[in-house]
Amino acid sequence: MSAGREAAATRAPSARVRRFRSELRGLSLGLACLAAAGCRSSGGPDERRLERGMVVAEHPIAAEVGAAILERGGNAADAAVATALALAVVYPQAGNLGGGGFAVWCSNGGESLALDFRETAPRAADAARLFDDEGRPLADLLLWSPLGVGVPGSPAGLHELFRRCGSGRIAWSELCAPGIELARHGFRVDAHLARALRDPDDRARLERSAGARQLFYPGGEPLREGDVLVQRELAATLSAYAERGPSAFYGGETARAIVAELDAAAAALPEGERWDAGWISLEDLRGYGPKWREPIVARWRGREIVTMPPPSSGGIVLVQTLRTLEALGVDGGGGRAPAAAGFDARAVHSTIETLRLAFRDRAERMGDPDFLASPLDDLVSDEWVERAVARIGERAAEGEEPATPAREGSSTTHVSVVDRDGNAVALTTTLNSTFGSGMLVRGAGFLLNDELDDFALGGGIANQFGLVGGEANAIRPGKRPLSSMTPTILRRGPHVELVLGSPGGPRIITAVIEVLLRAVVHRESLESAVAAPRFHQQWSPRPTQFEPGWPAALLDELRARGHAIETRERRWASVQAIEVRPDGGVEGASDPRTGGASAATRWR
Ligand code: DON
Repeated sequence: MSAGREAAATRAPSARVRRFRSELRGLSLGLACLAAAGCRSSGGPDERRLERGMVVAEHPIAAEVGAAILERGGNAADAAVATALALAVVYPQAGNLGGGGFAVWCSNGGESLALDFRETAPRAADAARLFDDEGRPLADLLLWSPLGVGVPGSPAGLHELFRRCGSGRIAWSELCAPGIELARHGFRVDAHLARALRDPDDRARLERSAGARQLFYPGGEPLREGDVLVQRELAATLSAYAERGPSAFYGGETARAIVAELDAAAAALPEGERWDAGWISLEDLRGYGPKWREPIVARWRGREIVTMPPPSSGGIVLVQTLRTLEALGVDGGGGRAPAAAGFDARAVHSTIETLRLAFRDRAERMGDPDFLASPLDDLVSDEWVERAVARIGERAAEGEEPATPAREGSSTTHVSVVDRDGNAVALTTTLNSTFGSGMLVRGAGFLLNDELDDFALGGGIANQFGLVGGEANAIRPGKRPLSSMTPTILRRGPHVELVLGSPGGPRIITAVIEVLLRAVVHRESLESAVAAPRFHQQWSPRPTQFEPGWPAALLDELRARGHAIETRERRWASVQAIEVRPDGGVEGASDPRTGGASAATRWR
């Protein structure tokens, strides 16, 4: 064991693992446990040195930044942090300082941890003020508005990941340095950023912010592909963060700049919606802290899924769905030749039905665990699976899901990393909508999130992803909104086998489920599993959406079973994944939908 790993292991808390075992229909589902931080699987450390370390991310420059950290002796946590900070510069649509996220860490040998650096509702947040005098929701106040901004979590979270899981061989300032250089000297705008800046809706939002207008629309025109984007204010903010850590962000100049920007934006809201000040105060910023959570660790097909617990809904829905399909024997495994089975109509039908049950629970029961009266253990229990199995028939169940159209943003991004010692990080970070709230903090150079739209207003009122919810996810001061981000690591014994995650709002969850089914059960190559067409179901609205590429006969069979089918031209989500083969070989797959990249270490 290297000094770095030893250091990380000694910092882990003692294990407190709860395990549930049961037999279900003669199938041993094994344990599904909400395992304590510091959970250890049997088998001891993996003695292999992997063929190479790897970083997969949605921007090639950021992936290279991470791989360079691995080459210099950093571990997976070091590389994930440096990659995320580079994304905050070169991928402003989603990479961020002004947002938040989650990270799942698995060390070689079985330690697993989950870090929650989700944004938090400020103390002044007041749900009652989000309705007009007639009780109509002012739902758009939570989107692209100063009132939708949650207290940012990324600066504290990334530093915490470094502090607890980093190798100790690379200094904090070295992890920040590539981002600072990219901000100070500029980088070439790629086709994705240029396209996003031309999008009429995104442009209208960004141009409302003086800071964003000046940075992205110099001379009144959007930056074009190939232009060099220099971000001096962001470089200064990152430099202070490199020198003084999170306190440089949550106090002093940067904190004052955030509050001033929000106050000015609140005062500039249209007549009738004007507020005296934004909701976020200096006290909110000073009080922000990331939280270590017990990762969900669940047994599935001879492996352990290590994934994100609440305030993400992703891990729960993922585990519920995969384990129910396994119990039903319809995931393409169940005794049949896996590669031949694939997604037949029965498998898709069963997946849709399970997702309807799981997403209904998401809407009604899930939220920030620090604000819920009862624990969420039942949702990842064998009993949940048993009930689901009993309820799923050959036809689509009747239902009265509220009709909730969705708007869609694309402002989340995922980074997967493995290092040559076999440690892994899955890190997903978000601004929520594309470019978040669109508000750039003048004097500090970064965009702010609009994450409070992930809270539920109740009464069937949907958020931008068409998600509904009630009291469990109601907005409250100090509370974290329910998320769909699903950073996930699959382990076999002590060996990390797969690392993955995605942007895509609720489609993150179904994208991760489908890639896992294809890669593990159907034994498709990772590349093909990531590229394959997807389907998505989230209880409300009722129709299941299908990307192009599904056979018409399969869709007809689903209709015959009573499913509402919606075929879509636009593809979704952007899975960033790594597979570690039993022989120590490492493969990355960056979703072809978004043109991301993987970067591997060149040194052996
Ligand atoms: O945390 C969540 O679930 C959302 N804020 C994620 C938004 C998202 O993935 C949009 N990007 N594609």
